Amino acid sequence: MTERLTSLDAILAEVWRQLELTTHDKHHAWRTPVLATVDGDGADARTVILREVDARQKQLLTFTDERACKVTQLLRHPRAMLVMWSPALGWQLRCRVLLSLEMTGLAATSRWAKIKLTPPAQDYLARLPPGAPLDAPEALATGPLKREYFAVINAQVLSIDWLELHRAGHRRAVFDEHGGRWVQP
Ligand SMILES: Cc1cc2nc3c(=O)[nH]c(=O)nc-3n(C[C@H](O)[C@H](O)[C@H](O)COP(=O)(O)O)c2cc1C
Repeated sequence: MTERLTSLDAILAEVWRQLELTTHDKHHAWRTPVLATVDGDGADARTVILREVDARQKQLLTFTDERACKVTQLLRHPRAMLVMWSPALGWQLRCRVLLSLEMTGLAATSRWAKIKLTPPAQDYLARLPPGAPLDAPEALATGPLKREYFAVINAQVLSIDWLELHRAGHRRAVFDEHGGRWVQP
């Protein structure tokens, strides 16, 4: 970005505009954030793809296999973090989120209907759950396919910690239910 935004309102609006861009721009660095969850008394984290962004509702959607470890973790502990960094923007976002899962409702069935005849559908049709042991990397489990395991993870954004790295000086701001405020980077 050439122009350096100065107001907190303008920065927050641009953050959500950029988040919305990720669903159209496959090369946007924020399209693949890291989702960090609580796993018992430890942490777990993995890359996911942002599939839909609703700036008005402050919701970020991602798809997964309902048998994945992250699903077990989010059902036990729905508070999580989505972390993303864009070298082009020089912006890091740490989004504190509340996760919820949709497996059977309209949110899941309508989206599954759109992708079920496309190659990415294979990601949700594996006979074995993610993380199941295999004899060889390419081993394919045999047996009848019972059903799809497609699920939608909805991340409700509770707050955003924005960090800008810049030659002229780094800046950091927090946006939450109390509004936006500058903090020491
Ligand atoms: C670029 C990239 C994008 C990914 N996107 C997703 C995704 O949208 N949903 C997902 O469940 N896993 C995705 N994965 C795989 C996860 O990072 C992870 O390996 C897998 O989901 C198992 O994680 P879990 O055992 O913590 O549930 C992606 C991996 C990469 C490298």
